[in-house]
Amino acid sequence: MGFNIAIDGPAGAGKSTIAKRAARELGFVYVDTGALYRAMALYCLKNQIDGRDEAAVAKACENMEITLTHQKGEQQILLNGENVTGSIRTEEVGNMASLISAYPAVRAKLLELQRSVARKEDVIMDGRDIGTCILPDAPLKIYLTASVETRGQRRYRELTQKGVSCDLEEICRDIRERDARDMNREIAPLKQAEDAVLVDSSEMTIEEVTERIVSCARERLAGTAG
Ligand code: DC
Repeated sequence: MGFNIAIDGPAGAGKSTIAKRAARELGFVYVDTGALYRAMALYCLKNQIDGRDEAAVAKACENMEITLTHQKGEQQILLNGENVTGSIRTEEVGNMASLISAYPAVRAKLLELQRSVARKEDVIMDGRDIGTCILPDAPLKIYLTASVETRGQRRYRELTQKGVSCDLEEICRDIRERDARDMNREIAPLKQAEDAVLVDSSEMTIEEVTERIVSCARERLAGTAG
């Protein structure tokens, strides 16, 4: 078993940016588990499967093969052999992922895949249920959050910088809806593990949050050495 770091938190809290930086500093492998749910969501969208129809999604799971690899340190996701890393980053795919991730068949399909990566390598894995379900024995768990307003503003800036026109109110409403879905589902809802360190990034820079996580990791690593 590698030395694993679990980072959970709501959409837009900065998990992937920070986990990627921390992984680079620590020499760990970064695993973005949201991308796995997004690949399954993409399959449903491409095949016109209604995300509200649990039985149809469960059936479709049998036809999806999801593979996770790394190329020059960057995670790649293959869906039935096709690299879909570049096409899963849309709001449409994110919302579909949030919807179908509530279904047991979807979560069951990804459970062993996530655990097997963590068995082989030192990973920083981010998601919603990593500390609570996937890696309950991880020596370091972080719950990274930020206020809805901060997350909304970050997303708004990101989209406007890309030249996408958007509305801040609408973005905040989407975030609230996604939080409610992710936190209130029956299986593996998003919540802080009892032994997780809470980090609220609302008033912190990316560098400060990364530094906080890296120093927690170094403390724990020193504690486990020898
Ligand atoms: O982190 P993200 O936005 O890429 O995740 C997309 C959706 O996938 C998220 O709204 C809920 C789901 N998800 C999950 O249920 N469990 C995870 N470990 C990661 C993501």
